[in-house]
Amino acid sequence: MERSDALLIRNATLPDGRLQHDVLAASGRIVAIGAGLPAPEGARVVQAEGLLLSPPFVDAHFHMDATLSHGLPRVNRSGTLLEGIALWGELKPMLTLEALVERALQYCDWAVARGLLAIRTHVDVCDDRLLAVQALLHVKARVAPYLDLQLVAFPQDGLLRAPNALANLERALDLGVDVVGGIPHFERTAEQGARSVQILCELAAARGLRVDLHCDESDDPQSRHVETLAFHTHRLGLHGRVTGSHLTSMHSMDNDYVSKLLPLMREAQLHVVANPLVNITLQGRADTYPKRRGMTRVPELMAAGINVAFGHDCVMDPWYSLGSGDMLEVAQMGLHVAQMTSQAQMRACFDAVTVNAAAVMGLDGYGIEVGNPADFVLLQARSPVEAIRLRANRLMVVRRGQVVAHAPAATATLCLPDRPPSVDWTLRR
Ligand code: FE2
Repeated sequence: MERSDALLIRNATLPDGRLQHDVLAASGRIVAIGAGLPAPEGARVVQAEGLLLSPPFVDAHFHMDATLSHGLPRVNRSGTLLEGIALWGELKPMLTLEALVERALQYCDWAVARGLLAIRTHVDVCDDRLLAVQALLHVKARVAPYLDLQLVAFPQDGLLRAPNALANLERALDLGVDVVGGIPHFERTAEQGARSVQILCELAAARGLRVDLHCDESDDPQSRHVETLAFHTHRLGLHGRVTGSHLTSMHSMDNDYVSKLLPLMREAQLHVVANPLVNITLQGRADTYPKRRGMTRVPELMAAGINVAFGHDCVMDPWYSLGSGDMLEVAQMGLHVAQMTSQAQMRACFDAVTVNAAAVMGLDGYGIEVGNPADFVLLQARSPVEAIRLRANRLMVVRRGQVVAHAPAATATLCLPDRPPSVDWTLRR
């Protein structure tokens, strides 16, 4: 008799607040959700005991070609964005295909263990060999059974500023890179930045692709390429397919100008990705005190009806020497930096690393719904807010109905008289 591949999760809490629900997966898909579902013969049954069953974490903004390269060939002494770009330029000629693949695969291992099963990564195309593109196309195919990797052709040194960047970007797209990237604020002039936005949007429209630009990643209140991005998105009918990443200049803009900008971004259905860990460390570097936080206006963007996700951006690379693929760490930092402390806002920060990020990537079949792929994470927390508070342990990570990672419950034994024998940091009343 053939062994059943069915997996039944009993008594889970779902992110929308549904309690005591069972989720049944079979043949890689969610086939039933409800209370007291019968267990098919031979099914594996997991008792969730009221813990949170979430769709997988999604990172809408990452740099997998640079990840885990910290210290190669040296560390970033000033800690600034510009020294990071210069340092990456020093490292690029030394890169090998094998090392790029190995570091990316190791990061994907970390990601899976954190329940992070979809990542949009920018890939530098300012290298005539397109070594990073080749490496990450290989990694994308290799990890496809357990992680969705989406690649963005990213001209790190400027589309119009760097030699061959436009030609290399088009070559990368020809090779199968998914999304058109750019960095308008790094072009030689504001006019050249605006021109690059136009070229990139027209290229994406002609090829039927999505756009994701590093946009206005500075503390300059006059850096306004997001306005140009919204304009060309609307002009070319790219609504819902274009993302402005970082948008840190919005932090410093005049409020009156922002009140005009937000409806234009909404009209274009732009997505926004803030990168709290990296924005809070790289921005405001030229300030004395008070020091700007530098993250874009997340609650105001959300209130304007704009989809906002949080990205990790960097892990152990020339720009950021910390991180471990934990999107709950990202959400926790975003929550603090944006002062999003109401229950609804904290819940929105959980969405920013799950459903909102999936919308940025345009993932099909995302979410715990009947008929969708059986992809989910059992967290050692009872609600999205508690998951952020505890940066909750990932007890079980499931992809297409198969367990791809699991971990023992996080707990500590107490050796105290007249106190409980252990704690797990959850609040029990
Ligand atoms: Fe980035």
